[in-house]
Amino acid sequence: MTYIVAIAGKGGVGKSTLSSMLIQALSERTGEIILAVDADPNANLGDKLGVEVEGTIGQLREDLLERADEIPTGVSKQDMVMYHLRLAMVEGKKFDLITMGRQEGRGCYCYINNLLRTFLDNVMEDYPYVVIDNEAGMEHLSRRTCQRMDALIVVSDPTSVGITTARRILELAKEMEIDFSSNLLVINRVKGELPANLLEDIEDAGFDNWTILPHDEEIELLTEQGLPLTGLSRDNISTESIRKLAQQLR
Ligand SMILES: Nc1ncnc2c1ncn2[C@@H]1O[C@H](COP(=O)(O)OP(=O)(O)OP(=O)(O)O)[C@@H](O)[C@H]1O
Ligand SMILES: [Mg+2]
Repeated sequence: MTYIVAIAGKGGVGKSTLSSMLIQALSERTGEIILAVDADPNANLGDKLGVEVEGTIGQLREDLLERADEIPTGVSKQDMVMYHLRLAMVEGKKFDLITMGRQEGRGCYCYINNLLRTFLDNVMEDYPYVVIDNEAGMEHLSRRTCQRMDALIVVSDPTSVGITTARRILELAKEMEIDFSSNLLVINRVKGELPANLLEDIEDAGFDNWTILPHDEEIELLTEQGLPLTGLSRDNISTESIRKLAQQLR
């Protein structure tokens, strides 16, 4: 059964950074090709993974709506959607990436959205691991882009406000009855020791487990230069922590 990891958290805390590094680490650990889903309308997971994204599901959805009458005879609408979904996929050595993109236009998307959801579910079944990089905040949880996940990872900065947001995201996921079997809080960009009051906040936040990732100047530098994180050095300080994190997953 496919193991789905969803990464959530408030804006700018490092969701896409963690997603891209976790995808690499999971692939290295298991030897499998990971399905990476960029579910942030403001997509940038492809940049972090160092691949060119040529089409998003959002753009394809628009094309499909516009050209619904042009479907050749003998081709079902479902086949057409599946074909387009494959077009929006970038295939790499360690991962295949699907970029959801924005919902463009104002047409009625229910039919196509439902089809897409079904097909995404089907595509996911072909992979042992799926990592979903979500948009900031919690709206995506209420929209239920993903019904089921195995691990919910919430990323936070090392601040009280950040931990409070992380706690709310976990609470909302539970309220929405989203099906997840494990949850993990990742405190990112930690410099030195965590202060005692923050440790208390973390303990109170209600996560099953938590871990930290160090503030990493190499990540910062590559991002500033617009370079992918696949270029991190072998002895990078975060890579080892993320490898350990990947080991905690199935
Ligand atoms: N451990 C780290 N050390 C140093 N810089 C980091 C670290 N993690 C993330 N960053 C930097 O923080 C910024 C935000 O990271 P990232 O884009 O991954 O966050 P995000 O949560 O995906 O943001 P958004 O909500 O906009 O999608 C980037 O400039 C990134 O390089
Ligand atoms: Mg992001």
